[in-house]
Amino acid sequence: MINQLSLIGHGGSSLSVRAAGTRPAIIFAHGFPLNNELWIHQLNAFGEKYHAIAPDFVGFGNSSREPELLEEITIGGFARDLELVRAHLSGGQPIVLCGLSMGGYVALEYWSQFAGKLRGLVIVNSKPTLDTEEARAGRMAMAEKAEQGDNVLEGMEHKLLGQTSLDSRPDVCMATRQMIADTALPTVAAAQRAMANRQNFETRLAKLAIPTLVIGGEEDPLASVAATETWASKIPDSHLEIIPASGHLTPLESPKEFNAALQNFLTQVI
Ligand code: MLT
Repeated sequence: MINQLSLIGHGGSSLSVRAAGTRPAIIFAHGFPLNNELWIHQLNAFGEKYHAIAPDFVGFGNSSREPELLEEITIGGFARDLELVRAHLSGGQPIVLCGLSMGGYVALEYWSQFAGKLRGLVIVNSKPTLDTEEARAGRMAMAEKAEQGDNVLEGMEHKLLGQTSLDSRPDVCMATRQMIADTALPTVAAAQRAMANRQNFETRLAKLAIPTLVIGGEEDPLASVAATETWASKIPDSHLEIIPASGHLTPLESPKEFNAALQNFLTQVI
């Protein structure tokens, strides 16, 4: 059974959290412009054996989205909110942290601040590198347009999902469109600025002394398999899984394959 709860995050924000099962804890961190619905198949499957916990970041899903909180959004702040969630729900135990794309940036930031609280790290459809100048400019332009009320998320599912999902997984397309539609434009602006200002972890991967699973999607339009292979190989204790016929949202597009890869990893680290 999945429970919905509300925890206090930074600045007195309310963090909406879905959780299932009992310890040990795995925390799932969603990507942009999404929410904890991304992890529905993992909450159902891993809540049977573990404490599967999926918060909505501030601004997203059912968490607080007041303008004064959005102004303060940073990837580091999201990581500190994850630590509050861990402190409330893990019974003082270290966690496995699994973050997709923007959630992967947050997971790496969590490692830099709270390495001692981690048993394992799962970086999904993400990257440790900074944006190119062009990509950073694109983020700033998107933030400005969102602030002016332009619907910058129109058709966004085509940038996230793999071709196989777009062609043959209508339920995945619908769930993705719904999460995108639930993301407010002020959140888009704040999150784009936060991602543009994130830290570079590319040069620190050799120091990542925590068992790490990297998961990519064969059809990910935003993170190529070759690029993922290159950075994943720099993490000493790491394993890479590429999910076939899956795009940027592997846990939603190919839950069976994704869950098998994650279960293999959990068996080793918990
Ligand atoms: C995400 O899925 O979280 C985004 O693609 C991350 C990004 O814009 O870099």
